[in-house]
Amino acid sequence: MQSPPTTQQHHFNPRSGMTLPTTQPRPRATHPGDSSRSPVVTAGNAGAGAPSRAAGKASGASATGGAGATRGAEPLLEVRGLKMHFPVREGLFLRASRSNRAVDGLDLALASGETLGLVGESGCGKSTLGKCIVRLYRPTAGEIIFQGSDLAHASGAALKAQRRHLQMIFQDPVESLNSRHTVGDIVAEPLAIHGLGDAAWRQAKVRELLDRVGLPANAATRFPFEFSGGQRQRIGIARAIALGPRLIVCDEPVSALDVSIQSQVLNLLLELQRDMQLSYLFIAHNLAVVKHVSDRIAIMYLGKIVELAEADEIYRRPRHPYTRALISAIPEPDPLRKKQRIVLQGDVPSPIDPPSGCAFHPRCPHATDRCKIEAPALRETSLAGGAHAPKGTRQNYGNSEGENDNGSSRAAPAAPPPPAARHQVACHYDL
Ligand SMILES: Nc1ncnc2c1ncn2[C@@H]1O[C@H](COP(=O)(O)OP(=O)(O)OP(=O)(O)O)[C@@H](O)[C@H]1O
Ligand code: SF4
Ligand SMILES: [Mg+2]
Repeated sequence: MQSPPTTQQHHFNPRSGMTLPTTQPRPRATHPGDSSRSPVVTAGNAGAGAPSRAAGKASGASATGGAGATRGAEPLLEVRGLKMHFPVREGLFLRASRSNRAVDGLDLALASGETLGLVGESGCGKSTLGKCIVRLYRPTAGEIIFQGSDLAHASGAALKAQRRHLQMIFQDPVESLNSRHTVGDIVAEPLAIHGLGDAAWRQAKVRELLDRVGLPANAATRFPFEFSGGQRQRIGIARAIALGPRLIVCDEPVSALDVSIQSQVLNLLLELQRDMQLSYLFIAHNLAVVKHVSDRIAIMYLGKIVELAEADEIYRRPRHPYTRALISAIPEPDPLRKKQRIVLQGDVPSPIDPPSGCAFHPRCPHATDRCKIEAPALRETSLAGGAHAPKGTRQNYGNSEGENDNGSSRAAPAAPPPPAARHQVACHYDL
């Protein structure tokens, strides 16, 4: 996991208004414990400094199929009909007569090495979905197929074995790190829980992990409160990668950080993804951040996915009225380019008493009588097609204007472009 040092340059991103460090690609390591995987960034495909994702895409991250599923190779994760209903205790005897349908029949899939962005308003169930996937919550119904086995119904040793490959990074590193433990103990905890190595080995591993996330070795003997917000998030990341996971749920990992620190943490996550072939479910409010880090983006509304497509496609051609409203609210950095903001009427309804039919109908400018009765399924839009260019490469965060990390033109992807991605929408009409 030890990596060669990187060189850093700075790049001004006109969208975010931030000057962001961009890191040169390093030779790619294979996934820990999986020597059969091929490196994603090689001398051949790294081009003029642009980290190519083409090889990683070829392993299955390139495409979609089924209900939000990936095309080609078996998806790493497939969520089918997932429900997480929390009982609502009310009245004198605190009887649970109703339930909060935080996640309410949700389908999605994620390929190895892919980042799936997850966006939606506060309370729509993003964190609950993430916690179900890493099995912090036991879902009410549905399946979570991870590496071929169903986690939703797993328990005991079978669940523990799979959990090793699933980790979560939380929004608030203060709350997620036990302030009474040293950083060394926090990072070593998952290793100890899984009975890996002896104390000396774990100490050496902690030093290696701290170095990998950019913290000094002496951080191991200090406490979380002695660190800044960005450093604390690095501690959380070190703990999350300790067991060499396949999938990390990143629940708003940079929302609590200063803008200048956000980019450093995002770049660290991208580097780790390249080096360890990680998959991310990346939850965020900030649509600009999600676009930069995601291969595909899922839009969530009241416990369900309402739109899912490649990141560029969803920004260029949002289909669902809710997605259109979200995209229209992104500030336009160019003052000469005016865009019309779509203002949605009303608040997000309560998941305790969601509207009938399409849950978005009370706020939708296109709603018809059918929408009040019939819930639309997530289906491929007839307007989808290969008109957009496949992403092929992904730049470090902050490098979005068609330049690679050296400031020269973006290199062509080394591998053939993936097939046109599917664009799925949960709406009765092609709007
Ligand atoms: N442990 C819990 N017990 C009961 N209800 C919960 C629990 N966790 C979440 N909820 C409820 O589930 C719904 C979805 O919450 P969740 O935290 O998943 O939303 P979110 O999309 O992550 O919101 P935010 O963007 O604000 O983080 C909310 O109505 C919330 O009150
Ligand atoms: S199904 Fe109807 S209410 Fe729902 S998004 Fe489509 S048009 Fe709007
Ligand atoms: Mg949340």
